[in-house]
Amino acid sequence: VQRSLVLVKPDGVRRGLSGEILRRIEAKGYALAAVELRDATPELLAEHYAEHEGKPFYAPLVEFMLSGPVLAVVIEGQRCIEGFRSLAGATDPTVAAPGTIRGDLGRDWGLAVQQNLVHGSDSEESAAREIGIWFPQL
Ligand code: GTP
Ligand code: MG
Repeated sequence: VQRSLVLVKPDGVRRGLSGEILRRIEAKGYALAAVELRDATPELLAEHYAEHEGKPFYAPLVEFMLSGPVLAVVIEGQRCIEGFRSLAGATDPTVAAPGTIRGDLGRDWGLAVQQNLVHGSDSEESAAREIGIWFPQL
C-alpha cells in the first residue's frame, strides 16, 4: 500500500493547525503510520530540499523550516501521494482552491517565503526518499 511523507510546517504548528490538518487526512480515509513533532536540522533540510538547492527561495525556505518544530507524518492508503497533494492544494496559498488545506487555512503574510502550512511528497520516488530521511527506522 502506498505511503507519503507529510510535514506540517512551522507556520501550521505555530498556528495550532496540526490537529485540523491531521483531521482532514483521517477524514479522507488515510491511516497515520507515524506522527512525530520534530525540530528540523540544516542537514535534514539539505537532503529534504536537495532539488531546490540554488533556487532564490532556497535559503529563506530553509530558515523558515528551522523557525520552529514541524510535525512529521507518514500517511498510508491507496494513491495517498496524489490524494494528499489534492487535499493540500496549490503551492501558493493565496490562490489555492477553497476546500483545500492551503486554500482554507493559508494566505500571503508578506514574508520572504511562501508559508503554505504543509509539505507532501510528489511521487513514489520522492516519498521513499523523504520517508528515509525523516523516519530511517520505518
Ligand atoms: P511542498 O509540498 O512543500 O514540496 O510544496 P510544493 O511541492 O507545492 O512546492 P515545491 O516543492 O515546488 O516548493 C517547496 C516549497 O518552497 C514550497 O512549498 C514553498 O514553501 C517554497 N516555494 C516554492 N516555490 C516558491 C517560489 O516561487 N517562491 C517562494 N518564495 N517560495 C517558493
Ligand atoms: Mg514539493
